[in-house]
This record gives sequence, structure tokens and C-alpha cells, in this order.
Amino acid sequence: MPKPIGIFDSGVGGTSIWKEVVKMLPKENTVYLADSANAPYGEKSKEEILGLSIKNTELLLDLGCKMIIVACNTATTNAIDYLRSHYSVPFIGIEPAIKPAALHTKTKKVGVLATKGTLSSSLFHNTSKLFAEGINVIEQEGKGLVELIEAGKIQSKEMKTLLNGFLQPMLDQNIDCLVLGCTHYPYLIPVLKDMLPENVNIIDSGEAVARQTQAVLDRYNLLSTADGKPNHIFYTNKDTEIIKQLIGRPSAKVSFLDF
Ligand code: DGL
Repeated sequence: MPKPIGIFDSGVGGTSIWKEVVKMLPKENTVYLADSANAPYGEKSKEEILGLSIKNTELLLDLGCKMIIVACNTATTNAIDYLRSHYSVPFIGIEPAIKPAALHTKTKKVGVLATKGTLSSSLFHNTSKLFAEGINVIEQEGKGLVELIEAGKIQSKEMKTLLNGFLQPMLDQNIDCLVLGCTHYPYLIPVLKDMLPENVNIIDSGEAVARQTQAVLDRYNLLSTADGKPNHIFYTNKDTEIIKQLIGRPSAKVSFLDF
């Protein structure tokens, strides 16, 4: 069986990336790790995030993965340099999509909703400096959002109250782009669309990550040519049901694993 692509996240959010990857690469097998028992990563120190990223990487390598997608902005911005320099498989990371937002904004004001761990990372700061010259980037920590998404409370009153408190200050500053800088947040798009004025564009990086995955697999001659039905396995160290719900596949293979 062709080797799978490994994908990990602090929890269920990286399945938003998984969806884009399987859409673009329908012949690929995948293994997804949801480290929900340790979510949220965004509140942890850089050393803790690095330690968890190493643990997830080594498990995916033990499971025979040919490439790893770090489907978590917080883990990417804090650990990808280390991972790339210590393991021989190719890594794909995800960062808040500042560049497309900077190119798109008319008001020159862009909001970024992300975790504390992402917003405080040097990688995020360097990217903002590089691509958002002359743009006012308004950073907002999404404290509490990951926990509610992990608990399946996407449409809850609690969620709307929390989001309202995060969005209003950015809207008051006239943003016309909102960058979703956490892979959990694309699951909030229906709620956000109801809350944001029409002129505010929501920007996330899922499709770009899938495109990059395809390009890198091609570059390393790792693309699968298999014809049969692809195999997708999910491991979580918490709740197995929420993943099935989020990806909309009630019969998905989701197993509990104590990692
Ligand atoms: N999905 C992770 C990210 O993209 C969530 C981080 C967290 O667990 O706080 O940043």
C-alpha cells in the first residue's frame, strides 16, 4: 500500500486542512493525529509546543508516513524549523495568510485572529514585516475558541459572545480582511459570515496548503499513483465522535490512541 501523508494538529482543527488535501489529492492515503488531550497548544510555551510536535512527528514516522503536514499554525510557527532540520521527510507547515490579505485589502487594515502562541512567534512577526508593509495588521488572540470547537460548541451562544468581543474592536478599526490564523477557525466560517459585514473577506490557508503539498510531493517524486479507494485513518487521544461530525463522514475510521 502506498505510504500515507501524515497530518497532525493540537486537536480536531487540522481536519479543515485534511479536507482540502484529500480534495486536491484523491489518490493519497492519510493518517491524522488529533492531540486533543493536549489542546490548546496556543497557551503553552515554545518548549512545550516543540516537545508535543516532536512526539506527534515521531508517531507519524513510526506509522510509515512519507511526508508530514503540520496542520496547526501554533506548531508550525514554533517548531517547523526544528522539525525540518532534524527529520528527513518533507514537512508542510501553515501560517496565517498575511500575504494574500495584504494584497487584497482596500482599507489597508487587516485583522488576524490566531492563538497567543502564533501571534507571539518570531516566524509570524517576520512574515508580517515582510508581506504587510504599509498595512495595519490588527492582531487578536482567539482565547477560548479552540476549546469550544473541540467541545463541538460551534453554534453556541457562548461562541457568539466570545466572537463578538473579538470582532468588534477590529471592525471599529475598519478591517476589510479577516485572516483565520488557526486551523480550527475555518469551522467558524458560517458563524462569522452571519456576524461580519459583507465587505469583510474571510481568508484562510487550507487550499494553499493542499496546493503546496501537491507541489512538494511532486518535487520529491512521492505522489501516489494508486487507483483503489484511498485509506484515511484518524487517531485521537480524546473524543472520536467530533472528528466524524466535523469532516461529515459518520463511517470514518477514527480510533482512540493514548499518545
Ligand atoms: N489548530 C491550532 C492552530 O492552528 C490550534 C492551536 C491550539 O491548540 O491552541 O493554531
